[in-house]
Amino acid sequence: MQRSDGEPTTFTVLVTGANSGLGFAICCRLIDEFLATRLHSQTLHVLHSTRDASKSEDTSRRLRVHLQKSIRQSNGSLTTSETRVKIEGVLVDLTKLRTVKALAEQLLDRGDVLDAVIWNAGLAGWKGTDYLAGTWAILTNIIQATTYPEFMIPSVGLLAAPQTPDDTKSNQRTGAKEEPKLGQIFLSNVFGHYLLTHWLAPLFRPSSRIIWTSSTSAVPPYFNIDDIQGINVHAAYESSKRLTDLLVLTSELPSTRSYVQKLLDSHESAQETAESSSTPKMILTHPGIVATPLAAQNWFMQFWMVAALYLARWLSSPWHPIDPYKGAISAVFAALSPPYQLPELEVQDGKGKWGSATGVYGEERVARTEVEGWGYCGVVGKIPAGSVTTGRWAGRKDVDKESREEFEEQGRRVWREMEELRLEWEAILS
Ligand SMILES: NC(=O)c1ccc[n+]([C@@H]2O[C@H](COP(=O)([O-])OP(=O)(O)OC[C@H]3O[C@@H](n4cnc5c(N)ncnc54)[C@H](OP(=O)(O)O)[C@@H]3O)[C@@H](O)[C@H]2O)c1
Repeated sequence: MQRSDGEPTTFTVLVTGANSGLGFAICCRLIDEFLATRLHSQTLHVLHSTRDASKSEDTSRRLRVHLQKSIRQSNGSLTTSETRVKIEGVLVDLTKLRTVKALAEQLLDRGDVLDAVIWNAGLAGWKGTDYLAGTWAILTNIIQATTYPEFMIPSVGLLAAPQTPDDTKSNQRTGAKEEPKLGQIFLSNVFGHYLLTHWLAPLFRPSSRIIWTSSTSAVPPYFNIDDIQGINVHAAYESSKRLTDLLVLTSELPSTRSYVQKLLDSHESAQETAESSSTPKMILTHPGIVATPLAAQNWFMQFWMVAALYLARWLSSPWHPIDPYKGAISAVFAALSPPYQLPELEVQDGKGKWGSATGVYGEERVARTEVEGWGYCGVVGKIPAGSVTTGRWAGRKDVDKESREEFEEQGRRVWREMEELRLEWEAILS
């Protein structure tokens, strides 16, 4: 919705995985920062997604409680009413593509513009923790161990349940092919969001922002370019995050333009000649390390895990916000910051991975993060102001011309494969 001077009156944000951890904190922080920084004539529409109706109702209720508390605590500085924030739940399970399509159709029917989408929902797929290895890693190098953990035990080879009804007999009769396999972690963390991006494309305008959630642990050893779904890799979660880095960071390069335009084109008629600036921007974020149910620890281990995270922060680790609300700062910055603080900065200094960093006392800020093969901004040797150069991955190598080229080549390849997969699955689902 727009005012007569062209300024939108309603800012709509869709956040996935909003019932828990970081997703819930993102919604809370969006509300607080929107009310504190936007004109009183503007309203915020928070569309939060969860997997079922009871989680949806509970999330709406808790967000309303948060809104009322924020207004109360502002002692009048938020001279505003609750009516400036509309909270609404929608349902989607990203590992069930028919629900992804149903959500897209529901939103398309309404036709409201999406100013930002925050692809936060994620599944780790860990089946346990190697406590011995974890204790040793923490005792020998606590910052590395708690920023790039290697002691979670992954479930290798997790597959998503079939997406179409089991028509084995009729397939045998008609000679139809069996449904291709989909890696479960890949589907929930990347591909479900990827398809949703395409199906929601008519609701984006050029200024809309598509915000992806990565991780500090998105390091190359976990990723195999010949297995982008991470079905056979040792750590599908970390693989899905490296894939996210590759997709988003290369999304504005000429070598991926034709794929990105097809993904974001609402009429399946991508014009290679169109200016890339006329498509919405993809932004890469990560929350640092936050204490959430993601690692699925019991209360006893959760206590020691949080203690180790605080110790790491006090020993000057930059990537330990711990509190989900602090960890939400990068995603909320990506959604609400004015053009000169993000899109224009990326044009000027290069595309970045925006992380939630903290100081020793937990004061949070947004900072550029080093990515293997890309560096801080895709330019060899360049470290823009506001980059974090401490607490880096122990296996890191300085980016050189070769590794930068390899990153771009991998980016082009994953974009091609993701587009092929999208077309294949659109045909299957239709
Ligand atoms: N915690 C960290 O330190 C950390 C660090 C780096 C990145 N991240 C990223 O931050 C994001 C949020 O994680 P979190 O730490 O807040 O974990 P969390 O508390 O477990 O939240 C994950 C959210 O994603 C939802 N979700 C999972 N699979 C889904 C699916 N197939 N379809 C729809 N929703 C699904 C969950 O819903 P249910 O409750 O229904 O399962 C939940 O709402 C993830 O992308 C994660 O990779 C977290």
